[in-house]
Amino acid sequence: MSSKFFLMALAIFFSFAQVVIEANSWWSLGMNNPVQMSEVYIIGAQPLCSQLAGLSQGQKKLCHLYQDHMQYIGEGAKTGIKECQYQFRHRRWNCSTVDNTSVFGRVMQIGSRETAFTYAVSAAGVVNAMSRACREGELSTCGCSRAARPKDLPRDWLWGGCGDNIDYGYRFAKEFVDARERERIHAKGSYESARILMNLHNNEAGRRTVYNLADVACKCHGVSGSCSLKTCWLQLADFRKVGDALKEKYDSAAAMRLNSRGKLVQVNSRFNSPTTQDLVYIDPSPDYCVRNESTGSLGTQGRLCNKTSEGMDGCELMCCGRGYDQFKTVQTERCHCKFHWCCYVKCKKCTEIVDQFVCK
Ligand SMILES: *[C@@H]1O[C@H](CO)[C@@H](O)[C@H](O)[C@H]1NC(C)=O
Ligand SMILES: *[C@@H]1O[C@H](CO)[C@@H](O)[C@H](O)[C@H]1NC(C)=O
Ligand SMILES: *[C@@H]1O[C@H](CO)[C@@H](O)[C@H](O)[C@H]1NC(C)=O
Ligand SMILES: *[C@@H]1O[C@H](CO)[C@@H](O)[C@H](O)[C@H]1NC(C)=O
Repeated sequence: MSSKFFLMALAIFFSFAQVVIEANSWWSLGMNNPVQMSEVYIIGAQPLCSQLAGLSQGQKKLCHLYQDHMQYIGEGAKTGIKECQYQFRHRRWNCSTVDNTSVFGRVMQIGSRETAFTYAVSAAGVVNAMSRACREGELSTCGCSRAARPKDLPRDWLWGGCGDNIDYGYRFAKEFVDARERERIHAKGSYESARILMNLHNNEAGRRTVYNLADVACKCHGVSGSCSLKTCWLQLADFRKVGDALKEKYDSAAAMRLNSRGKLVQVNSRFNSPTTQDLVYIDPSPDYCVRNESTGSLGTQGRLCNKTSEGMDGCELMCCGRGYDQFKTVQTERCHCKFHWCCYVKCKKCTEIVDQFVCK
């Protein structure tokens, strides 16, 4: 009885969510849905792929075929969103998610460099999560990496620890994440077609960044740590490195336009064409200073800023010249920590009154 009720409640939630969801929202799998992905599948025989919010037709098919993968798609999206928020924490646009279902809101309808970053980092998150899930034996269709032994690995080192399966992660992420773009109906030369090309390009740039940053990791063996023997395998980079690399690409992203043959080309033809690993965009960024319903900008009113910084986090730039309010807050920190034998650390709580500044 209760599971029947649960299913009904789910169906109602999803049909509601479907309405408010904007175009891109496999990302919504990364949000704190009232339903965690794993619970969806515990229900068993009747998986809810067809009802999951935000999936395109092709993505629903993949969901049916690879049900055990969906949890990691969600994890990947979440990792990407978190990294985006970290990288942009001091910026006017801070990658905030608007609500749990529409994820980033209307700003993603603009083909800006912020949108480019968001696509790349979430595609990267999926490669990351899938590759690791394979290695950890969580998926029925993949296992440890089968990457060939690198040529430059010293001859007496062993190749063969269980590595992150980045080939599989890359391939599945490509199929799943790009599915939505490939299905979109568009006229040649239309704005829509330019957006599709832009999204596909940035998805690929994100995936390749994960691929290229993966590296060989090794472990020592041998008599009393002599390290005479090493076992090595392929390992994903820390996702922060992926975020840092994509942030640099964001800073140097290329402005593009459609040419007469329906291809994306660089606006400024004097620059080198972007490679498959660069980010590209087709629209200027909206004004992130003031709240605007039509662009989806949340504005910077109420944002914390740094009075002494001259960077983007400084009050001058963050508040767009509108000025700021000052208030005092009490901050509590752990302090005077002492190590006790054995084995715990005991700390005191220290409170401090600090000045804070928020944009008008
Ligand atoms: C959104 O998620 C948060 C937890 O992350 C939850 O507290 C809140 O109720 C959710 N809101 C909606 C509208 O589902
Ligand atoms: C919101 O943005 C649109 C598009 O850039 C602009 O035309 C409009 O004037 C803006 N509205 C406000 C209230 O700033
Ligand atoms: C990001 O900006 C929005 C809009 O100004 C604000 O509501 C939100 O608290 C900010 N998030 C963080 C983590 O600073
Ligand atoms: C504010 O900016 C200054 C200069 O960049 C920096 O030294 C300081 O740590 C910042 N303060 C906070 C609270 O981030």
